[in-house]
Amino acid sequence: MVKICCIGAGYVGGPTMAVIALKCPSIAVAVVDISVSRIAAWNSDQLPIYEPGLDEVVKRRRGKNLFFSTDVEKHVAEADIVFVSVNTPTKTQGLGAGKAADLTYWESAARMIADVSKSNKIVVEKSTVPVKTAEAIEKILSHNSKGIKFQILSNPEFLAEGTAIQDLFKPDRVLIGGRETPDGQKAIQVLKDVYAHWVPEDRILTTNLWSAELSKLAANAFLAQRISSVNAMSALCEATGADVSQVSHAVGTDTRIGPKFLNASVGFGGSCFQKDILNLIYICDCNGLAEVANYWKQVIKVNDYQKNRFVNRVVSSMFNTVSGKKIAILGFAFKKDTGDTRETPAIDVCKGLLGDKARLSIYDPQVTEDQIQRDLTMKKFDWDHPIHLQPMSPSAVKQVSVVWDAYEAAKDSHGICILTEWDEFRKLDYQRIFECMQKPAFVFDGRNIADVEKLREIGFIVYSIGKPLDPWLKDMPAMA
Ligand code: UDX
Ligand code: ADP
Repeated sequence: MVKICCIGAGYVGGPTMAVIALKCPSIAVAVVDISVSRIAAWNSDQLPIYEPGLDEVVKRRRGKNLFFSTDVEKHVAEADIVFVSVNTPTKTQGLGAGKAADLTYWESAARMIADVSKSNKIVVEKSTVPVKTAEAIEKILSHNSKGIKFQILSNPEFLAEGTAIQDLFKPDRVLIGGRETPDGQKAIQVLKDVYAHWVPEDRILTTNLWSAELSKLAANAFLAQRISSVNAMSALCEATGADVSQVSHAVGTDTRIGPKFLNASVGFGGSCFQKDILNLIYICDCNGLAEVANYWKQVIKVNDYQKNRFVNRVVSSMFNTVSGKKIAILGFAFKKDTGDTRETPAIDVCKGLLGDKARLSIYDPQVTEDQIQRDLTMKKFDWDHPIHLQPMSPSAVKQVSVVWDAYEAAKDSHGICILTEWDEFRKLDYQRIFECMQKPAFVFDGRNIADVEKLREIGFIVYSIGKPLDPWLKDMPAMA
């Protein structure tokens, strides 16, 4: 029986291994992690991540050919294929601070693999890493190998949170990069055989190692760039009276452009986009490609601009001050159908409003109070370390309360900010909400999900990203 071990039981490792176990009953899959609480959660009824369809897959295979364990060394030693899906935070100190990836966790995983291995292994990069990481890892492995052969492959993950299980069941493509030597090609074939259990062969692409690593960074950079492009347009739409939804629809019907990833928003978040682009920028800088680096930097700058612009709109609409005013925040996760808050635009928007002394009442269907308080007190980039190594939040932000109901959040508030596009926010009884709010009552829709006309009929003053401005807002221009 082929044995797979995955180091890192996170958003990538957990769902990916669960689906491999489901689709390949003849393969034993162990997911290991240094975090005791995370593994305990994977073995319980309350999985550590919220992902539609995941519970069902885990329940079907756990204890049969899917195991979660903290006994990292034992499972690595026994495995034929070791996936590595550990944290790769952005460096905050030293060379490349603010851009380069910190490979501490990767390096320690690689050293451990080298130390405990007693048989040949294929080591698969699953977390996004800078180009040429595989080469560095290969050196660590081969210098400790005691005659044991390691083949390193890059097999980047393209799943998106909220749709991870569907993405894994029916991937657009699976990418496997490896060495162009006979042993490298053999290793590629072994991994290909795993995916071939359910992925059609023509969707399994094979490349050299660096192409696979770079493709992941490039794909995320392209996706983020589309969002920054449409968000840049949203600012122009507001200034000129065009409607960004109509513009993106018109642009997206061009088959060369396509309709996806053209929704204007308060900004993109998530663990990958910003981090991967920063990585790309660092690689460009290191190769003397300043113009290319500057091109990608602009994608992040526009994203930051969009979040600032949103905060400025809120404050300027409310007579230039939100000091002491209660503002309801609907949605804190970086997108719907996930409880993940990594790099969520809600963090910057909330911090911006708190900077203007607002009182916030936050509701998200999947994010806990503890997580929100951590996010609002944590330093930039600290989120990307294993949870037990993250700094404890010293004290809760007093002006923030977290509630378990949208109506409770909105009660007595001056304004509502919609920051995540949860379906339930489309169906709220806005008449009821209006009646229990201070007047004038504002809605600031950062996801374009509200029915603007209906809300205006109720009496709200409405701002919706990239939509023609409410007359009220026209008289109170937000500073860019
Ligand atoms: C992304 C990539 O899509 C995935 O392939 C990769 O493996 C990991 O990074 P993820 O971050 O989970 O996935 O979510 P995604 O759906 O890409 O959304 C990222 C952010 O962009 C979210 O904050 C989302 O709200 C925002 N977004 C997305 C928009 O603002 N507008 C859009 O049109 C699409
Ligand atoms: P991703 O979104 O890429 O899956 P996560 O942060 O969700 O990232 O998961 C990474 C996991 O890797 C964390 O649960 C962390 O505890 C684990 N981890 C980090 N370093 C090691 C290591 N050396 N051995 C085992 N697990 C590790």
